[in-house]
Amino acid sequence: MKIALIGYGKMGKAIERLALEAGHDIVAKVGRGAESSFSLPVDTDVAIEFTRPDAAVANIQACVEQGIPVVCGTTGWYRQLPELSAIISQKQGALLYAPNFSIGVNLFMEVNRVLARLMSQQPHYRAELSEIHHTEKLDAPSGTAIALADDLIANHKGYSSWSNSDAVKNDHLPITALREPGVPGTHGLSYSSQCDEISLTHKAHNRDGFASGALFAAEWLKGKTGIFTMKDVLNLNQLT
Ligand SMILES: NC(=O)c1ccc[n+]([C@@H]2O[C@H](COP(=O)([O-])OP(=O)(O)OC[C@H]3O[C@@H](n4cnc5c(N)ncnc54)[C@H](OP(=O)(O)O)[C@@H]3O)[C@@H](O)[C@H]2O)c1
Repeated sequence: MKIALIGYGKMGKAIERLALEAGHDIVAKVGRGAESSFSLPVDTDVAIEFTRPDAAVANIQACVEQGIPVVCGTTGWYRQLPELSAIISQKQGALLYAPNFSIGVNLFMEVNRVLARLMSQQPHYRAELSEIHHTEKLDAPSGTAIALADDLIANHKGYSSWSNSDAVKNDHLPITALREPGVPGTHGLSYSSQCDEISLTHKAHNRDGFASGALFAAEWLKGKTGIFTMKDVLNLNQLT
């Protein structure tokens, strides 16, 4: 594939390394400063966007305007998805976005949905989510923690919303977000009762799982139009 990298930070560099090892070409690298005014080579197969929450929407839009499918890993912009969807549909563009491209995290998310349905019948267990990321991460809680929370709430009758403040109401799912140097991403889910606890943790050892997942998603997106997530890529829609 001919890949354009939008954002050349920690993730952009990890994707470049794995893409070159796999025999792909990097045909453009767009950094801060070009903002949304960049033009990509016309034969670009896919753009992979990992920048900042306040830059992602304009970058995606610029790719769609140029007819280039885009894989977006930036988190913290999803409230703008409805307006972006309208543009993508009008231009018959292609967007694949995910708060987390790691295959392991996406399977964790699936287990979370199933477990929430089981635990919905067991009100004496209280659920909690936690996440730890490196100190440069701008958004908190992480996009992955919010996705886990939204899925849990959708599948558990005991919760109506999530909260990352200290004042947690009974039907609020608590999320704890910590920032520590050098942590690529750790997410934890637990259900505790007076007697016992079920806990599940996903811990990224490095960024390669996110980068290889984004490349896998980019190959999957080739030739498609519409808006997709990792549930489509991993065919999880049929399971839950
Ligand atoms: N979905 C996933 O699997 C996943 C995994 C890891 C991270 N993420 C998310 O991906 C995003 C990037 O993470 P990262 O660790 O790579 O961050 P990073 O190391 O800070 O890199 C971001 C890069 O984007 C550049 N940039 C800023 N504004 C830009 C713009 N308008 N256009 C083009 N480039 C711009 C930055 O340039 P400067 O250095 O000049 O600011 C920097 O090089 C974050 O939102 C993070 O939460 C997602």
